[in-house]
This record gives sequence, structure tokens and C-alpha cells, in this order.
Amino acid sequence: MGNPAIEAQFKGAMRRLASGVALVTTADCEGTPYGIAMTAFMSLSMEPPSLLLAINKEASLCAPLLERGRFAINILGLAQHVICRAFVSTSARERFAKMRWQRDAQGIPLVCSAVANVICTVGQSDLFGSHVVVQGLVQDVILGDDCDPLIYLDGRYGGTTLHD
Ligand SMILES: Cc1cc2nc3c(=O)[nH]c(=O)nc-3n(C[C@H](O)[C@H](O)[C@H](O)COP(=O)(O)O)c2cc1C
Repeated sequence: MGNPAIEAQFKGAMRRLASGVALVTTADCEGTPYGIAMTAFMSLSMEPPSLLLAINKEASLCAPLLERGRFAINILGLAQHVICRAFVSTSARERFAKMRWQRDAQGIPLVCSAVANVICTVGQSDLFGSHVVVQGLVQDVILGDDCDPLIYLDGRYGGTTLHD
């Protein structure tokens, strides 16, 4: 049984957590692309280079990603908030018509002009409540020319103001 008071407070706390935004993408063996917008990803370790992500088990991306065992985290730049909104508000089938993308040598979709594309294979994955927590083992990285990231905070998109 949940605790509504804690859930509301927790939601409020998470709305105050600023996050980078990525489109996480994969493709099945027939080449059909899948992708969702995601903020629940983080660096895990340098030994080996790896990251963690949390995917809703009902998301259209989840089963194809686990089955294919390979995916890309496309970290978006500030100017790509338009792509992100279009991606989120479009049905899973039509999403990839909303942006420029290409495939890597294994056919995984890579978003063009992302601040970084991090290509991973799937390590361990664990079901936790509504989400699957997936380890990504980094296979390749492309750093874009633009390194000004898109930030998501309290339901809004923006950029960074950094102080030394
Ligand atoms: C800014 C933003 C961040 C999101 N972060 C996540 C996330 O970390 N994990 C996740 O499973 N879904 C996340 N979602 C929801 C997915 O992008 C997607 O809308 C949802 O999984 C339904 O996808 P589907 O229509 O492909 O099934 C996020 C959505 C937005 C707009």
C-alpha cells in the first residue's frame, strides 16, 4: 500500500531535480526503430565505462531494447528542445519522422547533432516496481560539436547557467 503524502512530497522533490535529457533509441532485427525521451540515466562506472537507466516496463522501447541488447543514449542540446517535444507528443510509430537521425553500423538509430551519442550493450537488468533498471556497457561514444545541453526542471525545458 502506497503512502500518498510521501508520494506527493517525493514527486515535489523530484520536480526540483534538474536533469539532462536524452532520447534513448534502439531498433529490432528488422530495423524498426524505437525510442523515448528520458531523464532517468546516470553514469555508473569507468571500470568498465557504464551507465544506468530506468525504463518504464510498459514503454514501447522497453521490450525491444532488452531483446536487441544494444541501444543509444542521445544526449540532447539546448536547441533540440523542439525535437524533444515533438518526439514526446507523437505516437511511437511516427516519432522518427520528427528529426534527423542515422544508423550506426549495427543499425541502432543515432540522433544527429546531439551533444553526445553513447552506444551501449545491455548488461544486467532488474525489474523494480514499474521500471526496469538497465546497466549500459559503453561500446562507442560520439561527441557533438555543440556541448550546450538541454535541461529539464519542474516540467520545463531550459539551458544551464554555470558559475566557476
Ligand atoms: C522529459 C521527460 C523525461 C522522461 N523520462 C523518462 C524516463 O527516465 N524513463 C521512462 O521510462 N520514461 C520517461 N519519460 C516518458 C517517456 O518518454 C515516454 O513518454 C513513455 O515511456 C511512453 O512511451 P511510449 O508511448 O513509447 O510507450 C519521460 C518523458 C519526458 C517528457
